[in-house]
Formats: sequence, structure tokens, C-alpha cells
Amino acid sequence: MKFRNFKMVSYVVYGRGSFNQLDEILEPQRIKDRPMIFLLDHFFEGKPLASRIPLRDNDEIIYVDVTYEPKTTYVDSLSNQLKEKFGSISGVIGIGGGSAMDLAKAVELMMNNPGSSADYQGWDLVKNPGVYKAGIPTLSGTGAEVSRTTVLTGPTRKLGMNSDFTPFDQIVLDPELTANAPANQRFYTGMDCYIHCIESLQGTYLNEFSKSYGEKALQLCQKVFVEKSQWDDECDDMLMMASYAGGMSIAYSQVGVAHAVSYGLSYLLGTKHGIGNCIVMDHLEEYYPEGVKEFKLMVKKNNIEIPQGICKGLTDDQFNKMMDVSLGMKPLWENALGKDWEKIMTRDKLRRLYEQL
Ligand SMILES: NC(=O)c1ccc[n+]([C@@H]2O[C@H](COP(=O)([O-])OP(=O)(O)OC[C@H]3O[C@@H](n4cnc5c(N)ncnc54)[C@H](O)[C@@H]3O)[C@@H](O)[C@H]2O)c1
Ligand SMILES: [Fe+2]
Repeated sequence: MKFRNFKMVSYVVYGRGSFNQLDEILEPQRIKDRPMIFLLDHFFEGKPLASRIPLRDNDEIIYVDVTYEPKTTYVDSLSNQLKEKFGSISGVIGIGGGSAMDLAKAVELMMNNPGSSADYQGWDLVKNPGVYKAGIPTLSGTGAEVSRTTVLTGPTRKLGMNSDFTPFDQIVLDPELTANAPANQRFYTGMDCYIHCIESLQGTYLNEFSKSYGEKALQLCQKVFVEKSQWDDECDDMLMMASYAGGMSIAYSQVGVAHAVSYGLSYLLGTKHGIGNCIVMDHLEEYYPEGVKEFKLMVKKNNIEIPQGICKGLTDDQFNKMMDVSLGMKPLWENALGKDWEKIMTRDKLRRLYEQL
């Protein structure tokens, strides 16, 4: 198909306090005797948000461990556990950052698809729709709330389950939930959005659809991280919408160099998405001169430390592994550098880039 015909999130509620409407929102989605399963980021264990979850009958909260980014083995164990205990369920509600939301998407798909989630890492491999699912971000920036993928680290690769069955049926965008995020984490995840915008707006796949969302998201990121002198409620409001719009922008384009390189770091070293993108972006003047200049300004203004020297002492084998993962992300490179990207981003050049990180 020449033009991407993409599936979007079905329902969106936005506003401070909209989380309080969750019970009402879930009511029509409940199937008799089958529970709603809330996958709640483990950060919220014992916190007030946990007691605000509208549990009914045999509903359950599972605190998900997001110390590491989601792995296919974790998804499989969660979905198998649910199948054994309940047979089938009404739905899965993911509450947390990109990791908890991605886990929710993957687990609900695995409720109705056989085998391991690793079998479905790729594009349009998922065969059956999953159960009902909703996403509720507590960090803003990844765009996982709107995307048609769930990024998983599997036995051989880090790749999403990209499919029309993957987007949420419902998202609840309540900026109050992001209010107490630590400044560093908020910055790293926020920069994921900023970098989505730069990569989308400077990419060869750009069209007016992506541009409209990308420009708005970029403007909101600039307000939050460049113009504001102090973090306030308005920053949470704006960054939540930036994340949404940034996600919509890449839905019709693609990400670029920072993501392609950071995927390699993440695969080999377990570097997390937000911080990994920042580590790479710091060295991409050649590809995104304006964006990198502004990025450095934001790092300074917000008093953030970007780790240096993380590839020091790696072996040739390790560099090769990272390069294989990175160069495998063909659409990202093509978006960033055009059809002839392989002539531009040679292994030599990529190796030198990794050595700088
Ligand atoms: N599906 C997609 O389209 C997509 C896009 C980009 C990234 N991702 C994925 O998203 C993940 C990264 O997500 P992220 O950057 O949102 O971070 P995260 O979900 O990995 O969370 C980072 C840390 O912040 C904590 N946390 C979450 N909310 C908090 C809050 N309100 N206050 C305090 N701490 C809080 C978590 O417990 C965790 O320790 C990666 O796994 C990445 O692969 C997915
Ligand atoms: Fe990203």
C-alpha cells in the first residue's frame, strides 16, 4: 500500500482529574465474571494512586517491575499467569511510563495469540485482536500512548509488536499523574518527545500530516524546557500534549539517527530509551545541527547530566553487535538520510560515532 492507513486510539479523555472517571469509562467494557487487570508501574506501590484504582469484583492490580525495559519473557510470564488464573479477562489497563504502557499492550495481545510474544516482534505479525486495553501515562514523552507498537527486548532483538491490534482502545491523559516525576527522569522522557520531533521534521518521510503534529509538539517542548523558568502544572499539561502530538507525528513518518543508534546501546548495554537517546543526541551535530544546539541548551538550562564515555573499553565484537542492531533499523536510516543511506552511514562511520558516546 502506497499510503499508510493507520489505526488510531479509539477513545481519548484529557484533563486534570480525568483519572477519576476511570470507573465509568471501564464499566461498559466489563465482561461478566472476567476481571480488569491493572498493570501499575511499581513506583506507585503504596502510593495514593494505587488506592484510587477503581477495583471491582475479581479485578487485580499487578505491580509491574520496570527496572529493565520490557522483555518478551516478562510479557509471556504475565500473560500465562493471567490465562492460568482467570482463563480470560475483560481487559488490561497499563498505568505508568512507556514501559508499563508497553507491557499492557503486549500482555493483552498475548491473551489471544498463541506462542511467545517474541514470535510477533516485527511488522503485522500479530494474528488476532487482543482483549480491551487502556493506557494511562504517568510520564510524558514516549508517545507510547498513541503508537501502534510495543517495544520489547527478545532473545535475538529489540523490536516492537507493530500491528493494527496494538494501539490502545482508550487513553486517559491526566497531567496530574505526572506531577511528581523526578526532574531527571522527566527530562529524559521529555527529550524522547523532543527528539521524535527533530527526527520527524528533518526526515525524508515528512509530509504535512507529520509536520503539523511535529511542529506543535516541538513548540510545546520548547515552551517547557527552554522558555519556562520553573516547573509548574502548565508544564505537565503541555508536555502531555507534546507527547501525544509527537507520537502522532512519527505515526506518519519515522524516527531517525538518534533512535537508530540508541537501539544498539539499549540492546547491548541495557541503556534506557530516554537517556540513551540523550546520550546519542549529544553527538549528532552533523545530522541535526539546530536541534542538537537547542538540545545542549536545554540540558544546561535544566541542570541535567548526560553520561559520557559509556562505550569506553568495549570489544570489537560488542561494537559489531551494536552496529548490527542499529543498521537493522532500515526505515529509520532511510527516513534520516534518504534512499542512499547505506552509502552515507557506513560501518566505519557508525563505529566512530559509537566510540564517541
Ligand atoms: N511503544 C512505543 O511507541 C514506545 C515509544 C518510545 C518508548 N517506548 C518504551 O518506553 C519505555 C520508556 O518509557 P519512559 O521513558 O516513560 O520510562 P519508564 O516507563 O521506563 O519509567 C522510567 C522510570 O520512571 C518511573 N516512573 C514512572 N512514572 C513515574 C512518576 N510519575 N513519578 C516517578 N517515577 C515514575 C518508573 O518506575 C521507572 O523507574 C521504554 O521501554 C521504551 O522502549 C515505547
Ligand atoms: Fe522514542
